[in-house]
Amino acid sequence: MAELTSDEYSENDFLTTEELSLFNESLDRVIKCESFLDRFYDRFINSSEQTARIFEGVNMQALQSKLAKTLTLMSLANTEPWRVDEHLKGIGQYHQGLSIPKILYSSWRNSLVSTLHSCDPEFHPEIERVWHKAISVAIKKMHEGYN
Ligand code: HEM
Repeated sequence: MAELTSDEYSENDFLTTEELSLFNESLDRVIKCESFLDRFYDRFINSSEQTARIFEGVNMQALQSKLAKTLTLMSLANTEPWRVDEHLKGIGQYHQGLSIPKILYSSWRNSLVSTLHSCDPEFHPEIERVWHKAISVAIKKMHEGYN
């Protein structure tokens, strides 16, 4: 599947019940994939010089443990948004503080979804579409934290 820009998804649409089951089942498999976070960050950090510069000197071990929890937040952003919206906005505000431009988020999402191909043994195009949609909902919230 070709790389997608954030504009190609309606970010106001939450996942349907069926999509949510596909997403959560895939998430369960992915979380068990040992090298997932390593592979994702390797791909994302090397996706552009700008991204590589942003990550210089960052403690990746600490960041990886936080990201695993953040992936679960993506699911909650689609089911119980009232519980996690403020938290996602806060993460967005934190990223603004790190001078991270909004434009780099589609690269984050594309790197993550590309990594899933090798980590979810049951991966198929419908699951890919659902991941893009779920992440878009969370990114929208993070962007609301930018002012
Ligand atoms: C949906 C997209 C993203 C999510 C869910 C996400 C999530 C997170 C989380 C949870 C943290 C840890 C915050 C904390 O320590 O409390 C973090 C840190 C960080 N993020 Fe993101 N992030 C996203 C996109 C990006 C993008 C696009 C970039 C850069 C191009 C980026 C760069 C960083 C950096 C450099 C840190 C670590 C700062 C440090 O510890 O010194 N993130 N991110």
